[in-house]
Amino acid sequence: APVCRVPETAVGPWPAGPGYWAVFRHADVKQVLRDTGTFSSHLGATQIRDPDTEGDLAFVRAMMLNQDPPAHVRLRRIVAAAFTPRATRELETAIEARARALVEGVAGRGEADYVELAADLPIWTLAHILGVPEEDRRLLYDWSNRVIGYQDADHAGSSTADPGTLSPLGRAALAHRPATLVRPDGTPLNPRSPEALTDMYAYAHALADAPRPGSVMARMREGGLTGDEFETMFFLLAVAGNETLRNGIPGGLHLLLENPGQYEALRRRPELTDSAVEEVLRHWPPVLDIRRTAARDTELGGQRIRRGEKVVVYHASANRDERVFPDPDRFDITRTPNDHVSFGFGPHFCLGAHLARTQIRAMLRATLDRLPGLERAGEPVRLTSNFQNGLKYLPVRWRTDR
Ligand code: HEM
Repeated sequence: APVCRVPETAVGPWPAGPGYWAVFRHADVKQVLRDTGTFSSHLGATQIRDPDTEGDLAFVRAMMLNQDPPAHVRLRRIVAAAFTPRATRELETAIEARARALVEGVAGRGEADYVELAADLPIWTLAHILGVPEEDRRLLYDWSNRVIGYQDADHAGSSTADPGTLSPLGRAALAHRPATLVRPDGTPLNPRSPEALTDMYAYAHALADAPRPGSVMARMREGGLTGDEFETMFFLLAVAGNETLRNGIPGGLHLLLENPGQYEALRRRPELTDSAVEEVLRHWPPVLDIRRTAARDTELGGQRIRRGEKVVVYHASANRDERVFPDPDRFDITRTPNDHVSFGFGPHFCLGAHLARTQIRAMLRATLDRLPGLERAGEPVRLTSNFQNGLKYLPVRWRTDR
């Protein structure tokens, strides 16, 4: 059935929930994402599994991602100006140069874990946007791991930041962990913040104290956000553009290596890069699914959905709907049109889509252009997650004789 009921089973420490409606077709997925009055992001937030407590739910509901209009529109306007194509044009050149430098930095080695190699680019980009100093970039990586990798044991707890090398801002934030924290104005930091992330919020507040003029942090500081809105906005920006690309860029290379004919075509014809990026996103959606909650009784795909029930849309399925994509399982870098929903649809359409495309394009192009004879050097390892389509390890090798 295009819309069907899924019982929610117990996973790890979490008890079974009441189940949810799973939405698979392209048209239905768009319908759910478009109609925020019927399918709310705010009522139960956007993860399949509910937060553990009412307090945690209240906290995550302050996040822009988990708001409905008009509150959503207000929050989105505060940060959106920093993400327009015009605003990011200058950054694009820097992203391309960074991608080339990353690849050239390992070119003489002849082998690398491509997941580790590619992880730097989104972190570098976000650090630039948020105004995080060079020395503290590793913190962005750790926070993202803790938030997104929680279903995967060897991902969730890892910390790669060495306190000795952080900036004074970074050291101060970590020094507070996990004690109680106060804001610069002396009020206590949000007691509902997930404890593991108190250092992230402390860092965000410290950063906002002296933001780079015109930066996202400056906008957030001037935008009249409440404490919860500020912290969750930083959380959203620091994580949304990080893990998605850490999975999306290696996912793209993995698909190309699995399809040598397409790899070779793309290597020879750079003009195919834009359509290749869209096909990578369609075939390997980094965000597999997203949840809404019915705000009223409604009907979808012939099913009656009642107010309060969970509704989960599957980007991964919509992207392979044969009504929209001929021969949907075929990976085809020349596919046009390519109306995938990997960045969502409607009012919450990914704010970083343009930046994300730029980074995938830059990294794949640098890799194909500068690493001759590239091939897999072992089995890739997938991330255990029902939310992120992720790779933890993608060993590759290439020739160094040029
Ligand atoms: C929203 C995917 C990269 C920032 C979204 C949504 C999706 C998505 C599916 C919609 C969520 C919903 O409907 O509730 C992706 C993918 C990326 C990516 C697949 C990489 C390939 C980025 C980057 C940034 C970013 C680089 C920049 C910081 C955001 C923000 C939102 C969002 C702020 C919330 C928008 C809102 O609520 O109005 N993203 N994203 N994303 N994304 Fe991305």
